[in-house]
Amino acid sequence: VLVLLRGRTRRVGEPPLITGWIPYLGKALEFRKDAHAFLEEQRRRHGDVFTVYIKGNYMTFIMNPLMYPNIIKHGRQLDFHKFTNVVAPYTFGYPPVDDVRFPGLGDKISSSFHLLQGSNLTLLTESMMANLMAVFRQDYLNEASDHWRTGLAYDFCTSVMFEATFLTMYGRPPSGWRHPGMGPMKDDFLRFDTMFPLLIAQTPLWLLGNTEATRLKLINHFLPQKMSQWSNRSKFIQQRAETFDQYDTLKDMDKAAHHFAILWAAVGNTAPATFWSMYYLMSHPEALQTVRQEIQDVLNQSGVQICCDRDIVLSRDQLDRLLYLESAINESLRLSTASMNIRVVEEDFHLRLDSERSVAVRKGDIIALYPQSVHMDPEVYEDPQSFRFDRFLVDGRERTDFYKDGQRLKFYLMPFGSGSTMCPGRHFAINEIKQFLCLLLVYFDLDLDHQQRTTLDCSRAGLGILQPTKDVHFRYRLRTATDHH
Ligand code: HEM
Repeated sequence: VLVLLRGRTRRVGEPPLITGWIPYLGKALEFRKDAHAFLEEQRRRHGDVFTVYIKGNYMTFIMNPLMYPNIIKHGRQLDFHKFTNVVAPYTFGYPPVDDVRFPGLGDKISSSFHLLQGSNLTLLTESMMANLMAVFRQDYLNEASDHWRTGLAYDFCTSVMFEATFLTMYGRPPSGWRHPGMGPMKDDFLRFDTMFPLLIAQTPLWLLGNTEATRLKLINHFLPQKMSQWSNRSKFIQQRAETFDQYDTLKDMDKAAHHFAILWAAVGNTAPATFWSMYYLMSHPEALQTVRQEIQDVLNQSGVQICCDRDIVLSRDQLDRLLYLESAINESLRLSTASMNIRVVEEDFHLRLDSERSVAVRKGDIIALYPQSVHMDPEVYEDPQSFRFDRFLVDGRERTDFYKDGQRLKFYLMPFGSGSTMCPGRHFAINEIKQFLCLLLVYFDLDLDHQQRTTLDCSRAGLGILQPTKDVHFRYRLRTATDHH
């Protein structure tokens, strides 16, 4: 009993061990309160590498980004999928993918990810452009007058991105182009998302109120008989649906739950990331002005006349040329991301950290990278708390040289994870945020009241892009033809 209560003791060659005095929880409470501050404090006390006992797991944090390449390139002894095979099915409600009933399913799912990239990215980007434009036109460009209107910025981003992404990924309904009930579905999605941290922590469903019912409602939207009536669906979703149909052992609800999980992956981070880009630009008018001018220049170069009754189309190639915009988005991601990169140790071994050092790690332990500590390191990023929209630009090109201890970093911006588990939707995500901001900036004057400020809600640290603690009011007004010149 004593050993159980005290947990394990540090062995020779292992990193410093921080267990806390609460059995099972260990340091979980302090970590949840402010993960970044907690980890920085441990780094000051124990150095770059230490193990923390958090809720039954021994997690070894690697805090020096110069050591990241050694961790990220490890394939054999550090596994990622064990973690997703337990946590994701529990969260989204489908059976574990590695179950014997579904031979080869995991590999087939992974192989669908390439359909978010390469030439398929061009198709996805074109489709997203049309859908974003349609939503903007119907909901926000319909009033001819140029008076100021008010809105809530997070609500605005979430509504637009949710519907446009849904249409792009899953297709259009049998009649009309809008699915009925998108508003309530988005609200259910946000309710589910509020519970996401608790689901990821595998909190029993009966403790989570209506969450199971809400999840069921969301999953029901994706039943095969409904989805088969939708047209224009993306190749990505098409291929996944065909894969699921190859397995008699997958029930319709299981297939639908897989599709729902992808909706979460596609919107859960993109919506807050879009919000922060919009928010930081609105709170830095000079940045907003430069970015708007860049967009107008790219449009003008291709002879596009900008006016509010004409649709804007920006090709993938044009989006690639928006370097100020890209830098502003990357800067927003730097400031707002708090994802954790996790690998599970497959066998006891010595993990090499750099040319001189290695540490002993044990089977079943977790190795964690916490990129926020790099994003907020004043040695890597001067004045890291401030938004500098052109931080990732140098001499009109993307800036990629950032340093620590005088050495150039390979990994300095990691909102999308790293190595073999990097987000397959990252290029699509950047493009859709660009498209959203292009429409917003070209069509509207924007104004954020000076009193309207929000901050990052750190309670979701570790899980991706942080959400704002509160929504902010903003004003917007259609730009007139003269504004465009
Ligand atoms: C996985 C971030 C948008 C699809 C991930 C991971 C991160 C991430 C951190 C886990 C990587 C790891 O643990 O190493 C983001 C952010 C986004 C975004 C910050 C927006 C700003 C998207 C979009 C899609 C998408 C738009 C799809 C259309 C996925 C999928 C996975 C994933 C399918 C799981 C990959 C796997 O199981 O190996 N994302 N993502 N993501 N993301 Fe994204």
